[in-house]
Amino acid sequence: MANGLLKGKKGIIFGALNEQSIAWKVAERAHEEGAEFVLTNAPIAMRMGEINKLAEDTNSQIIPADATSLEDLENLIDKSMEILGGKIDFILHSIGMSVNVRKGRHYTDQKYDWTMKGIDVSAMSFHKVMQTAYQKDAINDWGSILGLTYIAAQRVFPDYNDMADNKSYLESVARSFGYHYGKKANVRVNTISQSPTMTTAGSGVKGFNEFINYSEQMSPLGNASALDCANYCISMFSDLTKFVTMQNLFHDGGFSNTGVTQEVIEKFGD
Ligand SMILES: NC(=O)c1ccc[n+]([C@@H]2O[C@H](COP(=O)([O-])OP(=O)(O)OC[C@H]3O[C@@H](n4cnc5c(N)ncnc54)[C@H](O)[C@@H]3O)[C@@H](O)[C@H]2O)c1
Repeated sequence: MANGLLKGKKGIIFGALNEQSIAWKVAERAHEEGAEFVLTNAPIAMRMGEINKLAEDTNSQIIPADATSLEDLENLIDKSMEILGGKIDFILHSIGMSVNVRKGRHYTDQKYDWTMKGIDVSAMSFHKVMQTAYQKDAINDWGSILGLTYIAAQRVFPDYNDMADNKSYLESVARSFGYHYGKKANVRVNTISQSPTMTTAGSGVKGFNEFINYSEQMSPLGNASALDCANYCISMFSDLTKFVTMQNLFHDGGFSNTGVTQEVIEKFGD
């Protein structure tokens, strides 16, 4: 299914850790659609070396960057423009991590150093990426920037813990920066709110298996897969969506607008 939707476009893709990663699928699809891009991830995430295979398959180079480090981000933006031979058209921020979640710390018993780390990695990094690109004038007119989020930013999912707060912050940054980047260079900024998906970050959430099944039955179309999410990202990077900006876009099979489904209500019958 290649339509040349990203032919001639250059990008930076954050967050491909392994084949399950949403960013991995985006990279594969972007390559199929004719884009050229740089892959990046935290230096520590490179240890397994899986990203090398993706780089080979998609003909792309890897520049390590901790998305919380302005120094790393400046280097990433400069080198990407060198490698790609000019300004960038799209950026995918596909990054999330909560230390409280990882270490099983309850929402009512947070260790605030860990909370701050989670905010920095999961949300403030989105601002840092955009601010670095903005100040370096690194994005072409009508470029497109995406972050990935989850509906726990709007509704309570208790085990999502402080990631819910991080996602609210992330979505707010998309709106606020979207205004400024729109004014500067017609660059659009959006978040995609994805169904629960079996990835390394996703499966770190307590009770994830039960939860993914619940979500499947609460969505008229079922859960959206990582590949379908990637396809949506491609459409958002293409010129077919030029006037969509400052939005939180649900990609969830209808979950966000469903009160209850027949399958779920039947579980409460006598
Ligand atoms: N999996 C789900 O259920 C789900 C649902 C909705 C939204 N999302 C969001 O999708 C995005 C991608 O997650 P995923 O599910 O593909 O999992 P993933 O674990 O494959 O990806 C998370 C990525 O974040 C990277 N990362 C962590 N700290 C970093 C840092 N300091 N600097 C740079 N990169 C860093 C990791 O190395 C990893 O590649 C995240 O924002 C996540 O919250 C996931």
